[in-house]
Amino acid sequence: MAPQRASRGTSAPLVDHFARRARARGYLARSAFKLLELVEKFQTLLPSSSGLPRVLDLGCAPGSWTQVVLERMSPKGVVIGVDLAQTPLERIHDARAISVCSDMTKTKRTLVKCVSALNLNNNTAKPSALFDCVLSDAMANTTGAREVDADRSRELVRAALRLALGEQHAGRDDFGDDDDEEEEGDELARHLAQVGSLRARGSVAIKLFAGDPKEEKAILQLLRDNFTRAHRVRLSTSRKDSREEYLVGLGRRM
Ligand SMILES: C[S@@+](CC[C@H](N)C(=O)[O-])C[C@H]1O[C@@H](n2cnc3c(N)ncnc32)[C@H](O)[C@@H]1O
Repeated sequence: MAPQRASRGTSAPLVDHFARRARARGYLARSAFKLLELVEKFQTLLPSSSGLPRVLDLGCAPGSWTQVVLERMSPKGVVIGVDLAQTPLERIHDARAISVCSDMTKTKRTLVKCVSALNLNNNTAKPSALFDCVLSDAMANTTGAREVDADRSRELVRAALRLALGEQHAGRDDFGDDDDEEEEGDELARHLAQVGSLRARGSVAIKLFAGDPKEEKAILQLLRDNFTRAHRVRLSTSRKDSREEYLVGLGRRM
């Protein structure tokens, strides 16, 4: 039977090939295949399957990227999934997946929640970084207006880079949540907001909706300055008519 099609203005099948494959393989969304394609192209993107790796998955709901990370992760690893959704990873029953409800554009507040989720509040041995890899598939609902969608996407790209690289390298948080009342885990979070939560030699993959070549060039340059390898890629698993791309940085320089 031919796939159902959307009603007007698009030729995208409602239930496409990747959505069917995702369902068959038990993934919560077709997006799983995008991360699988990224991992295939960039084999060092995710941490190796040994040790105690930690991955931050931004804009994680419903959780198919987290599922892919968990498939490849050692039994002692942890994925922190951040989303605006209340319990973003509620459908993943795996003790290694921890849900954090937060607006990722609020850098320090999000880091406070990550520190708390990792139970580092009262840990005297403070880590110099939290994560081996920072992923972001975050996107606000698209409006169809090219410029608006591209602007919103860039705001999320910059937020992901601030969380990974810190204000020192990725610019200040325009939302100024530094004025918040002191919270537990505050000191470590403030430090990480400055220097970034990604460890040296760690990696990032971040979704971008293209729309402003000049701004995007500046973001790619930021990636080049901070990683030994920086790439901007379109994926065959993205919808054909989408302006979605991914920025990949491998090997954080520090
Ligand atoms: C395309 S979905 C992510 C799909 C996910 N990677 C998966 O594989 O299941 C985009 C997500 O970004 C989230 N998002 C958008 N803006 C956000 C923000 N400011 N902070 C946190 N999450 C955000 C949305 O709530 C949505 O769940």
